[in-house]
Amino acid sequence: MHPHSSLTTLNAEMAQTPACTLARTATQPVFGFGNPASKVVFIGEAPGKSEDLSGKPFVGAAGKILDQLLRSIDLDRGDVYITNVVKYRPPDNRDPHKSEVEACWPWLEREIHLIDPEIIIPLGRHALNRFLPEAVISVMHGKTFTCTLSGFEHYTYYALYHPAAALYNGSLRVTLFDDFSRIPSLLKQS
Ligand code: URA
Repeated sequence: MHPHSSLTTLNAEMAQTPACTLARTATQPVFGFGNPASKVVFIGEAPGKSEDLSGKPFVGAAGKILDQLLRSIDLDRGDVYITNVVKYRPPDNRDPHKSEVEACWPWLEREIHLIDPEIIIPLGRHALNRFLPEAVISVMHGKTFTCTLSGFEHYTYYALYHPAAALYNGSLRVTLFDDFSRIPSLLKQS
């Protein structure tokens, strides 16, 4: 089956029977977006207000930075696949609880397997910790790592700061662009 039609089926199925309690307060689920045949998947934290209203990931302020980052390596969001660990907006943009990340995991798990990328790029600590529970983003950013989760051992992982971290911190912004610039060579190696 074409990965796009099976992603559509997955999203419809998961949205119909939401396991995550955040579905009660969110406007709608925010599905992953982009090229389902992409070699690279970016995984953010959770939808914010703009994403909750539009139903698309990374369309607010952090999304504008992500667009700039992608452009800096000659890509745009149609070339890659972008999704979140949590599919519904946490109220008042609070951090997602561990139970919410876990409730959304079967969805993300199936999503990743359908796309079957070469590189998984967690954006920020919530996504990073889903794959590497004890890791600290300030130590891991800009580094590749392996993951021992069953069924997830064969991907290459590359940790990045969350684009929102660059909104108000100029030095993190420089670091993020610098880390991002390694992605093309990682893709060539993979
Ligand atoms: N931040 C995220 O982590 N994901 C989004 O979709 C938007 C902002």
